[in-house]
Order: sequence, then structure tokens, then C-alpha cells
Amino acid sequence: MRLFITLVLLIVAAAVPQMVSAEPAKTIDELVAPYDSSNCTECHEEVHENWAKSWHAQSMTDSRVIRTWRTFILSGLDKSPQAKRRDLKDICLPCHAPVTKKVEMSDELTVQITDLIVTAAEDKDTAKKEAALKELSKLNIGCLECHNIEGAADGKPLPNTIYGPGDADEPPHKEEFGYDTVKSDFLKTSKFCGTCHHGCPPDMPSSICPTLYTSYEEAYLAHGGDKTCQQCHMQGEDGASHRFPGIYEKDFAATGVDIKLSASPSEYVDHLANKLMPAVVMNVQLKNTSGHGIPHG
Ligand code: HEC
Ligand code: HEC
Ligand code: HEC
Ligand code: HEC
Ligand code: HEC
Repeated sequence: MRLFITLVLLIVAAAVPQMVSAEPAKTIDELVAPYDSSNCTECHEEVHENWAKSWHAQSMTDSRVIRTWRTFILSGLDKSPQAKRRDLKDICLPCHAPVTKKVEMSDELTVQITDLIVTAAEDKDTAKKEAALKELSKLNIGCLECHNIEGAADGKPLPNTIYGPGDADEPPHKEEFGYDTVKSDFLKTSKFCGTCHHGCPPDMPSSICPTLYTSYEEAYLAHGGDKTCQQCHMQGEDGASHRFPGIYEKDFAATGVDIKLSASPSEYVDHLANKLMPAVVMNVQLKNTSGHGIPHG
């Protein structure tokens, strides 16, 4: 974990773009305003519904994340003489709340976010807990996080632009709210998912930095696997689905293992009792048919 955090620090220090902005954001509302995805819902109802059920829609508020971050803040950042609460921005927020790397924010706002996390994790007052979660949920990975912030191959998305797979005929985005729609082949690649599901510099092998992405490259692609992350995780009935099932979705997880069981009757001698006992010989073949090591995370 420590190696992971150090690596993340290094990468983030190198990768954070300098944004030009008049005033750093002081509230979560100011921070998320440039990437507001709320108007996407009205026309993309089904996509929205699936997204809302996905883990991406809970990237800040899922209780595993909240509780782990609480521990990281209280027992990590607060206890280390070199660390400060503002460091959460560079260490944990870039992938779980990508707006924080795009919009300049005050240190006080990062500290405010850490307070909300601690409240959401352990405040005795349920109403306070829920209010904190509601505030944090504004930072979850929404439409424009993928279709703008992470959507351009060169990592430099244009403002007021929706990057899409390019299959749609003349989306009305420009007329309706002034956004251009740009085809991005990058969205269909596994590298796109790797912007968050990797976390190590591009060529670092799994011996130094094991992630789901290194496992995908070394254990799957290198052995003839030819599917992208999207081909397994965005399978919908008609086109791409934003449900993104993973290990917690039983039916989907079942597609990741192939179990062959065979049993044949046998018998053995119980030497102590001088008796012939009936027995069964079991042969279990377990094959990982997912695109990477499982379980992972
Ligand atoms: C490079 C991007 C990135 C950074 C930086 C990052 N995460 Fe994550 N995190 C992810 C992704 C992607 C997942 C989902 C992967 C999975 O479930 O296998 C995830 C899942 C999680 C989970 C839920 C799954 C689990 O393993 O329990 C927790 C908790 C978590 N992260 C905590 C943290 C903490 C704490 C930090 C800062 C020290 C951090 N993350 C920094 C990308 C990142
Ligand atoms: C985790 C990243 C991610 C998030 C979050 C996300 N998308 Fe997507 N979306 C994609 C990718 C990747 C594709 C291309 C899939 C393909 O064609 O292989 C896509 C495709 C699409 C498409 C074209 C295909 C279709 O389903 O009609 C639309 C429309 C779309 N997204 C809208 C949205 C909206 C609206 C939201 C928010 C509710 C959203 N997306 C959130 C990654 C994301
Ligand atoms: C006024 C209705 C409307 C609104 C609002 C809207 N869209 Fe769309 N969008 C469409 C239509 C219509 C299409 C084309 C048909 C389709 O793919 O659903 C489309 C297509 C897309 C595509 C696929 C483009 C491609 O490259 O193939 C993406 C991605 C997308 N929208 C994302 C978004 C996001 C993100 C938002 C919010 C910022 C949004 N849309 C808001 C109507 C809308
Ligand atoms: C902006 C960063 C980001 C991008 C881009 C992204 N993800 Fe994620 N993804 C996350 C984070 C963070 C989580 C963990 C959320 C949680 O556990 O609350 C996650 C969770 C998931 C999960 C559920 C994991 C589980 O534990 O079951 C799947 C599956 C997944 N992502 C697949 C993908 C695929 C496929 C793509 C590419 C099309 C993609 N993601 C793109 C950040 C990202
Ligand atoms: C051949 C299909 C396939 C491919 C390709 C694939 N996955 Fe998966 N993935 C699965 C299956 C099936 C599971 C659920 C099995 C399990 O985790 O036990 C899964 C699980 C996951 C999880 C949850 C892991 C956990 O244990 O918490 C994440 C996150 C994920 N995949 C992301 C990705 C990303 C990112 C890529 C591309 C780099 C990718 N997957 C490529 C089939 C695939």
C-alpha cells in the first residue's frame, strides 16, 4: 500500500495540469460546476439509470471507500509528520473525483472534504452523516468525467466538448446547450479505463506495481486474450451499457470462472478399523475466464 501511495504521489505530481482560473474553488458546488452532468439525464434516461446503479456513481460515497479514506485520513495523514490533510487531493482524489485535478481548488476545500469523509464514516448523528454523504456525492464520477475529463486521447480535453464513440448521427448537443460532440476512438480502448484502473506509469511491470491493468496486459493480452475492458464490462442488450458490473454482480462474476467438476466412486481401506470404506474421487478444474487476475481489489 505504501509503495502504491508513493507511486501515485509521483505520478500525480508529474501529471497535474496547471489550470488557469481566476479564483480557486472554495465550495464543492463551485468545484463541480464546470462539469455539471445533471442536464444529460433528460435525454439519456436509460444510460443515466444504469450509471446510477454502477460503482462509478458511488466513487466517493461507497461505504468501503468512505471507511478506508477515514482510516487513511485519521491514522495516516493526521499521524504522519510529513503529511497534511491537503495531500488527499494528490493521493486519493484524482481517480475517485477527477474534477479535483481539473478545477483549481483551495487547500481549505480539500480539508473540508476530509472533514465530510470523517463525518460520513463515523458521526453518531445519522442526519449529519447523510448530509455529508449527499455533499460528497457531487464528486462522484459522472458523465463528463468520462466524456470530457478522461475522454481525449492526449489527456487534453477541450472545454464544452462531449467526447463520444462516434456512432451517433448528429447529436443535438450544440443547438441545445452549446457543446461540441467529438469522436474519440480512445473511449473504446482499454487504455481509457486504464487512466484510472492502472495507477502506475505506462511501462511499469506488475513485479513492481501490480494493478488490474498490468494483470490484463500480462496475463490476458499476452496469452492471446483479445477483448477490451468495454467488450466485457459494457455489454448491453442493444449497445453499450453503463451498468459496469464487477465482482459484486453475481451473474456477471460467474462468467469469470469456469468450473469443471467430476466425481468417480472409489473406496479406501481404513487401516485402524480394518474396513473397506466407500469414497469419492473429486477432480476440480478451475479456470479464470475474465480478463485479469480475480479477485482483485
Ligand atoms: C490511479 C487511480 C486511483 C487512485 C490514485 C486511488 N484509487 Fe482507489 N480505486 C481506484 C479504482 C479504479 C478502483 C476500483 C478498482 C477495483 O474495485 O478493483 C478503486 C477502488 C478503491 C476502493 C474500493 C475497493 C477496495 O479495494 O476496497 C477503496 C477503499 C479505495 N479505492 C481507496 C483509495 C485510497 C485510500 C486512495 C488514496 C490512498 C485511493 N483509493 C487512490 C483508483 C484509484
Ligand atoms: C466510466 C466512464 C463513463 C461514464 C461515467 C459515462 N460513460 Fe458514457 N460511455 C463510456 C464509454 C467508454 C462509451 C463507449 C462504449 C463503446 O462504444 O465501446 C460510452 C458511450 C456513451 C454513449 C453512446 C452509446 C450509448 O449508450 O448510446 C452515450 C450516449 C453515453 N455514453 C452517455 C453517457 C451519459 C449520459 C453518462 C452519465 C449518465 C455517461 N455516458 C457516463 C464511458 C462512460
Ligand atoms: C437535448 C437532448 C440531449 C442532451 C441534453 C444531451 N444529449 Fe447526448 N445525445 C443526444 C442524442 C439525441 C444523441 C444521439 C443518439 C444517441 O446516441 O442517443 C446523443 C448522443 C450522445 C453521445 C454519443 C455521441 C457519439 O459520439 O456517438 C454521447 C457520448 C452523449 N450524447 C453524451 C451526453 C452528455 C455527457 C450529456 C450531458 C452533458 C448529453 N449527452 C446531453 C441528446 C442529448
Ligand atoms: C475517472 C476514473 C475511472 C475511469 C475512467 C474508469 N473507472 Fe471504473 N472505477 C473507478 C473507481 C474509482 C471505481 C471504484 C468505485 C467504488 O468502488 O466505489 C471504479 C469501479 C469500476 C468497476 C466495479 C469494480 C468492482 O469492485 O466490482 C468496474 C467493473 C469498472 N470500474 C470498470 C471500468 C471500465 C471497463 C472502464 C473503462 C470503460 C472504467 N471502469 C473507467 C474509476 C474509473
Ligand atoms: C474477458 C472479459 C473481461 C475483460 C477483457 C476484462 N474484464 Fe474485468 N472482469 C471480468 C469478470 C467476469 C469480472 C468478475 C469476476 C471476478 O472479479 O471475480 C471482472 C471484474 C473486474 C473488476 C472488479 C475486480 C474485483 O475483484 O474487485 C474490475 C475493477 C474490472 N473487472 C475492470 C476491468 C478493466 C479496467 C479491464 C480492462 C483493462 C477489464 N476489467 C477487462 C471480465 C473481464
